[in-house]
Amino acid sequence: MPNALINHQVRLAARPVGLPTRADWSFTSEAVPELGDGDVLVKTLYLSLDPAMRGWMNEGKSYIAPVGIGEVMRAGGVGQVVASKNAAFVVGDHVNAGLGVQEYCLIPAKALKGSGIFKIDPRLGTPTQWLNVLGMPGMTAYFGLMDVGQPKAGETLVVSGAAGAVGQTVGQVAKILGCRVVGIAGGASKCDWVVRELGFDACIDYKAGAVREGLKQHCPDGVDIYFDNVGGDILDTVLTRINRKARIIICGAISQYNNTTPVKGPANYLSLLVNRARMEGIVVFDYADRYPQAVAELAGYLRSGKMKSKEDVVVGLSTFPEALLKLFNGENFGKLVLQVAS
Ligand SMILES: NC(=O)c1ccc[n+]([C@@H]2O[C@H](COP(=O)([O-])OP(=O)(O)OC[C@H]3O[C@@H](n4cnc5c(N)ncnc54)[C@H](OP(=O)(O)O)[C@@H]3O)[C@@H](O)[C@H]2O)c1
Repeated sequence: MPNALINHQVRLAARPVGLPTRADWSFTSEAVPELGDGDVLVKTLYLSLDPAMRGWMNEGKSYIAPVGIGEVMRAGGVGQVVASKNAAFVVGDHVNAGLGVQEYCLIPAKALKGSGIFKIDPRLGTPTQWLNVLGMPGMTAYFGLMDVGQPKAGETLVVSGAAGAVGQTVGQVAKILGCRVVGIAGGASKCDWVVRELGFDACIDYKAGAVREGLKQHCPDGVDIYFDNVGGDILDTVLTRINRKARIIICGAISQYNNTTPVKGPANYLSLLVNRARMEGIVVFDYADRYPQAVAELAGYLRSGKMKSKEDVVVGLSTFPEALLKLFNGENFGKLVLQVAS
């Protein structure tokens, strides 16, 4: 193992109220410990910055335990094995794993399975694509769409957060499957990109305040599938346009994550009754056994040029507190990743 490696880390210092601030984080450094039998040491290259991180900072019951005060912030990432006492991983391997917001992650033998570590195949995609289409957001898009959305050719799908990590893959897969695809995103440049580059049929700029009119115009036959990444008022408005037997995938509700007041639920939920429709939540980790199948399919689309991916790369571990906020003010354009080393 390389000698005297120093690991810089970002730890949760306080539970934020509203948007996180720099004071909610602490910056520490410590020597990388010696490896024991079966351990693997990974050098972080890129970290995935995810809206879910905001939820992990809160106390309370969820699908995963909160990050404890003083703990290294949880984060998935791509890195390179720099030392190994485990026959399954050799120095130089590129891996995807729960690395945390830090420069090095020593994964003890007993924690390897829980870290979700797996080797990535660089022939299928770049490291940042392995955090996007081929990584957790891509898996969320694919299984949310296929399992809950159950798209059929000719149906109309609406996806919010359309220019983001999950949204870009949802819309492109739905187009490949023959759906009419309408995105909702913030700002003209994101909407233009979604239509011109990704081939969506239309994209509604919610920041221009025209969601209701946009849905009327671009979904003349109503909405069969709504893939919801944002919740709040946009969800409520889409509910007024759904068809009989519509499927609504509750993937996330980013408009609500920094609320200091209770989450705003959909007032128009009786539209589900009238339309015999259903809303169903998904948690991507439930599909872990089936990731390889989705990776193979999505990598095939990337290779054949049927699918594009866009990542927004911010450089430097120390920029983490501000970089994370880009997700909540819409400054990220594509999947947000933090480059920690090259
Ligand atoms: N269920 C699961 O297993 C799972 C897994 C992964 C992600 N998710 C969820 O999926 C959603 C998208 O995640 P992502 O990683 O793909 O993020 P992302 O879309 O790449 O980035 C977040 C985007 O949300 C939009 N946004 C922020 N505040 C908003 C608001 N108040 N109203 C409307 N839009 C707002 C911004 O885009 P604009 O510029 O367009 O506003 C921002 O760029 C999140 O809700 C996340 O929690 C769920």
